[in-house]
Amino acid sequence: MATQDIVVRKLEVPRGDLPRRWFHGSTVHTNLVDALCLLFPEGERFFIRSVRHFVDRIDDPQLRANVGAFAAQESWHGRAHLQVAELLQAQGFDAHAILERFERVAFGTIEPRFSPELRLATTAAAEHFTAALAEVAIGTPMLDGVAQPMRDLLRWHAIEELEHRAVAFDVLQVVDPRWRTRALGMAIATSVLVGFWMMGFRQLRQQERALPAAEAPPAASLGRKPLRTLAHVGRAIADYLRPRFHPSQRPLPPGVSEWQRGVLNVVQNKA
Ligand SMILES: [Fe+2]
Ligand SMILES: [Fe+2]
Repeated sequence: MATQDIVVRKLEVPRGDLPRRWFHGSTVHTNLVDALCLLFPEGERFFIRSVRHFVDRIDDPQLRANVGAFAAQESWHGRAHLQVAELLQAQGFDAHAILERFERVAFGTIEPRFSPELRLATTAAAEHFTAALAEVAIGTPMLDGVAQPMRDLLRWHAIEELEHRAVAFDVLQVVDPRWRTRALGMAIATSVLVGFWMMGFRQLRQQERALPAAEAPPAASLGRKPLRTLAHVGRAIADYLRPRFHPSQRPLPPGVSEWQRGVLNVVQNKA
């Protein structure tokens, strides 16, 4: 089983300019990844409270320690993505409105309708999504065409998602190990994540059209990378629904320890 230490690294996003087309020079793809980034500030807080809710039920000291490290990592991820939201706001997007609607509808209206067990199962499934995206981010050249400071931020986030990928799942195994709870969590996570992601994307597309044209080098062709990413996530969902699945059964991307060292350098240089 592939397990790793969960190391808390604090990354601050510099306040300087963020290129409007920071993702491979493409406006559409930048809007798409920005919309995903806007899910994190409130989403990470939801993950933390869903897992922490059950901390008293955990007897294993290692798992309790992992929950603490998981919460610390997620808290820093949320904070960094909030700093990204401020950079988008400075570019002329109304990122605050997108954050506010997500918070109000997803966590004010939808969250209270589910039991704590289903909130945890939703978190475990969402963590599987972030780990699958992290496999692509670290295991393929996807981030090579990404401008700073987003390249460092996404690599840092991806590395830490891989480190804590099993924590919410392990807590769910303690609280409610039934397959139907895990599967229901995946159904809720998929609907909520995809729904709000696409809603934010649509809003950013509309706002983008109202802004002056962005100056940027011509967009590099992403070829089949987006489709391959979608297929990878689809296979990861199927994997998650195997009855005997555990996150640590998934192979880590090659060179993950080099990336861990590289990310540590980035964080230390900025501290
Ligand atoms: Fe995270
Ligand atoms: Fe996570």
